[in-house]
Amino acid sequence: MSENLQKTLAEIARIEKQCQSLLVTATNLQELEKIKSDFLGRKGAVQALFALMGRVGADEKPHLGAALNRLKETLQAEIETRMASFQRQPMAIDSFDPSLPAKLPAMGSLHPILQVMDEVKQIFTSMGFRVEEGPEIESDYYNFEALNIPAYHPSRDMQDTFYLSGQHVLRTHTSPVQIRTMETQKPPVRMIAPGRCFRKDTPDATHSPTFHQCEGLCVDRGVSFADLKGVVQAFAQKIFADKSMRVRFRPSFFPFTEPSAEYDFSCIFCKGKGCRVCKNTGWLEISGAGMVDPAVFGFVDYDPEIFSGYAFGMGLERIAILKYRVNDIRIFFENDIRFLEQF
Ligand code: DAH
Repeated sequence: MSENLQKTLAEIARIEKQCQSLLVTATNLQELEKIKSDFLGRKGAVQALFALMGRVGADEKPHLGAALNRLKETLQAEIETRMASFQRQPMAIDSFDPSLPAKLPAMGSLHPILQVMDEVKQIFTSMGFRVEEGPEIESDYYNFEALNIPAYHPSRDMQDTFYLSGQHVLRTHTSPVQIRTMETQKPPVRMIAPGRCFRKDTPDATHSPTFHQCEGLCVDRGVSFADLKGVVQAFAQKIFADKSMRVRFRPSFFPFTEPSAEYDFSCIFCKGKGCRVCKNTGWLEISGAGMVDPAVFGFVDYDPEIFSGYAFGMGLERIAILKYRVNDIRIFFENDIRFLEQF
């Protein structure tokens, strides 16, 4: 082998190494484009080596030609591969793509009890009732005394509560708002009072120490039990959006009403035929009601010879449980987003 051929082959090896090490350190496509033109371009290093063919004799030309072609093909392939790897790089994480849809802010929703409360208000105001409010920390007088529940009366036991210092309690029902309203307004009175109540109950599927009620009161001349039945039935049909809803009243006792009743709605699940939810009775217990006891009128200076009235209560959780088919009252107070976001 001639000395010239040896030198040229060494030069080929050097160029190959040089190109390969540049390929390894290249960091972007632009750099690769430059390497490609520096080595494989018309005025590139490989082309310059072809010009050295003249240095060797005719017998050595095929050998050198083959070595040069192999170099050209190797570098071509390696440069292509490296370029392709850059083209496949994913877009940087923090790059901004203005064509993507905007991120929507998470939307909140009203608590299911608040939704029921709003609906109850809407139904009763459409029947001429006003919405009244009272304090959650209530005096013993309004919570019990003026509702004809004197101290030591056994019916206080049913509503054992959280006593605060002095003569105050966390209200056990919304009935005290009846008294507050009658104290400040002359009849006729037509009002409802939705709100939060408290009792010293151990939580289970149907009891919660915090819960919500809506009180109703109507006082005027000539108000009768028939009016009470009509209003409660109209409410039942509206809140469950079902004209076939029936109500039934059973005799009961409350110190602030006489006569007193508990009322039931026909079962919304079986339409009164009897099912598991209504324990085969066809009826669902809702709450209490009755004609305002004359003794209560005595506390607010209404003349029972002139005026009569009816009152009713209702548990808002009870209605929400039936409306939304929930089986445990405690879930309303757990603030679990997975539950709340369904409403
Ligand atoms: N306050 C009663 C309770 O919480 C419910 C109630 C019964 C309200 C009869 C009334 C009524 O207005 O007339 O158990």
